[in-house]
Amino acid sequence: MLNLNLWRPKSATHPAARPEGGAQLPAVLRPLLRIVVLNTKGGCGKTTLATNLAGYYACHGYHTALLDTDPQGSSLHWLAHRNAQRATVAGIAGNERSSRVTRSFQLRVPPDTERLIVDTAAALDPPRLQELTRNADAILIPVLPSEIDIHAVSRCIADLLLVGRMERRTERVAVIANRVKKNTLIYAKLQRFLHSLGIPFVTSLRDTQNYVRASAAGMGIHELDARAARDDVRDWQALIDWLEQRPAAERAPSSAAPPPPQPAG
Ligand SMILES: Nc1ncnc2c1ncn2[C@@H]1O[C@H](COP(=O)(O)OP(=O)(O)O)[C@@H](O)[C@H]1O
Ligand SMILES: [Mg+2]
Repeated sequence: MLNLNLWRPKSATHPAARPEGGAQLPAVLRPLLRIVVLNTKGGCGKTTLATNLAGYYACHGYHTALLDTDPQGSSLHWLAHRNAQRATVAGIAGNERSSRVTRSFQLRVPPDTERLIVDTAAALDPPRLQELTRNADAILIPVLPSEIDIHAVSRCIADLLLVGRMERRTERVAVIANRVKKNTLIYAKLQRFLHSLGIPFVTSLRDTQNYVRASAAGMGIHELDARAARDDVRDWQALIDWLEQRPAAERAPSSAAPPPPQPAG
């Protein structure tokens, strides 16, 4: 059965995320960390990164929210396939355009959120990029090993750094190589390129059906059979370590989310 756990500000209680073992959550909430996943190129793994981060944090006991600002709604689609028995990820529809609800209503996050992950659409123009990243504590850019993607991400990063320089917060940006096949020339080229950027190149994720399988079941690879996903789980550790070194935001949940998406067309 589909389980679209969309969070609504009206609800009195936010179902707490429970670690897999059912252990009690710590009484004191951890500071909110706002993670935005973006790349103006489509198909590079933004939703994969966002949903796997959500799965990771939820199954490790964090109060986790996933804000989908892409009109395609892929992250919410993932959430709709998530089994209700799994650790809770609160979904927030930043892509809904209902005249009955205001955007601020849609975009407020549950007040006890500790990790907010924001999935974004491709083709963001610089003003939109600035809006989406203004309040982010970490900005993750997945890049595929392909000539076209290397070219496209150069432009995306240039726009982002322009925005970042204006706000003096470029240190919060990291790049991730995605769908890599080690020992290929194009991966070697991507590595050289990413290392040359002067931005942390935190990890490389394999091209594997584990991500496809996990995604279809509303899970992250950290929730798959440990033996099957062992290599991938290892790939993620450097990213998690980097994220957890970010200075988290002061708790200000009502302003935690980036602004709403622009109307289509
Ligand atoms: N590391 C990976 N290994 C295998 N398939 C992947 C991987 N990352 C992404 N994919 C697949 O590539 C496609 C595009 O990924 P997606 O995360 O939707 O990109 P985006 O959100 O940037 O458009 C999806 O079908 C996804 O399952
Ligand atoms: Mg997507």
